[in-house]
Amino acid sequence: MKRNLILSTVLLSAACLITSCNEGVKEDPKPIDVQELTKDQPETHGSEIKEGDITLSTPLDKAMVDAGKATYGLKCQSCHKLTEEKLVGPGWMGVTKKRQPVWIMNMITNVDMMLEKDPEAQKLLELCLVRMPNQNISKDEARQVIEFMRSNDGEK
Ligand code: HEC
Repeated sequence: MKRNLILSTVLLSAACLITSCNEGVKEDPKPIDVQELTKDQPETHGSEIKEGDITLSTPLDKAMVDAGKATYGLKCQSCHKLTEEKLVGPGWMGVTKKRQPVWIMNMITNVDMMLEKDPEAQKLLELCLVRMPNQNISKDEARQVIEFMRSNDGEK
């Protein structure tokens, strides 16, 4: 009997190999979602912007101001006013006068790094008590936002 059982198991396995046993093998009900896995790893993450990576020119680039304004409306306005008044985060009035462009760029594209190691960013966190979220902003978009901030600060 036992031998028959082993034999039929072997035969069954062989049959499976030939006819492919996909039927009956249940798919994992929750397949791995690649987007879910990578959503916290924005393309900009980790690429710290260094002095010299950004140059400002006068007069302002009007197209960049407009593009920056659009990004502001979509992704920043809910937390930042254009006056000095704090909303969730600090108001933007005067920000380009008190911060270096590189600092602002990193605050926009590498906020986690800044909150971890930059004393000025940490002071803001103590003040606002909310971590600015990583918004997945590209370097180009961040540069446009700076142009918009300069315009908001009265530069021409
Ligand atoms: C959910 C709210 C929120 C959103 C959305 C947000 N921020 Fe912030 N932001 C903050 C907070 C809060 C701080 C202060 C630092 C902290 O607490 O993390 C901050 C700080 C900053 C600073 C430094 C300001 C200063 O006075 O030095 C800049 C620059 C900035 N954010 C840019 C942006 C840009 C650009 C966007 C949109 C692309 C944006 N933020 C979207 C909450 C937000």
